[in-house]
Amino acid sequence: MQQADFDTELSQKAAMTEKTLRQILADQTEIPPRLKEAMEYMLFSPGKKIRSAMVLWCCELVSGQVSEAALLAAAAIEMVHTYSLIHDDLPAMDNDDFRRGRPSCHKQFDEATAILTGDALLTLAFEILTDGVENPKMGARMIRLLAQSAGPAGMIAGQMADFMAEHTQGTMDLLRHIHINKTARMFAAATGLGAIAGGAKEKELEELLQYGLKIGLCFQIADDILDETAISEQLGKTAGKDKQQGKLTYPSLVGLKEAQKVAAELTREAVDAIDRFGGEADILRQVAQKLLNRNK
Ligand code: IPE
Ligand code: IPE
Ligand code: MG
Ligand code: MG
Ligand code: MG
Repeated sequence: MQQADFDTELSQKAAMTEKTLRQILADQTEIPPRLKEAMEYMLFSPGKKIRSAMVLWCCELVSGQVSEAALLAAAAIEMVHTYSLIHDDLPAMDNDDFRRGRPSCHKQFDEATAILTGDALLTLAFEILTDGVENPKMGARMIRLLAQSAGPAGMIAGQMADFMAEHTQGTMDLLRHIHINKTARMFAAATGLGAIAGGAKEKELEELLQYGLKIGLCFQIADDILDETAISEQLGKTAGKDKQQGKLTYPSLVGLKEAQKVAAELTREAVDAIDRFGGEADILRQVAQKLLNRNK
């Protein structure tokens, strides 16, 4: 598949997720106006929507189509991801004033509203899966995967460790633990949710989870590299902050060159994990390459 095809394919999937998110919010008539405004400000800001696209691609891969459950899962993962960014940007955490090329939520509104907007998106994500996925067994499995991936032994564990590791020496084991939990687990949740929504066999689910975990780790390494090598205008968030905040990152621990090498190796491993799927999984191979070479 050509580059242009990939970009079209991603923007089609992003449009499907955005449409689902708009429907969900339109149905939520009881949300206070300021809170809804902040939720919309963040959900419809120009993010890449890569995790939600992964949900839809994985569902298509195992079932040949995008199911209703996959659309809801795509919306749910985008909500949880967006909440994580709102809280990550707060002054008590990474203290970042810009996100997706705009003032971050606490800058556009205020800190209390930003905290509550994150809370709102996190809880609404689970509500829509509970209400909307018709098959209750499938719904429960999806909810469990998302909760475990985003929760205190998943993304939050990673965020906690990231915070505790600031201005410390750090080891490769610790760094891998941070990156796998704060970022890769959500990618594995995305591929896993898509697989479950498409009725994947256990072996297929396992392989897609492996793929997700590997490209997720690669994604965070690329994020660390971009923080050092790109400019804020390109990233839509403040560049050079990791060094300034004493973050433990791949470039800080092993240098830029080695970090790039590890990311390339992880991309190969991710592609190997989905070997059995054949030509149907070409889009996932493209994603792996694209995320390795991304510039924002
Ligand atoms: C940013 O994620 C947070 C990380 C895990 C590095 P993205 O780079 O996917 O952010 P958006 O959604 O495109 O803004
Ligand atoms: C964020 O990692 C991971 C999350 C769980 C939000 P970063 O702190 O490196 O993400 P950016 O660089 O602010 O997007
Ligand atoms: Mg952070
Ligand atoms: Mg941050
Ligand atoms: Mg970063």
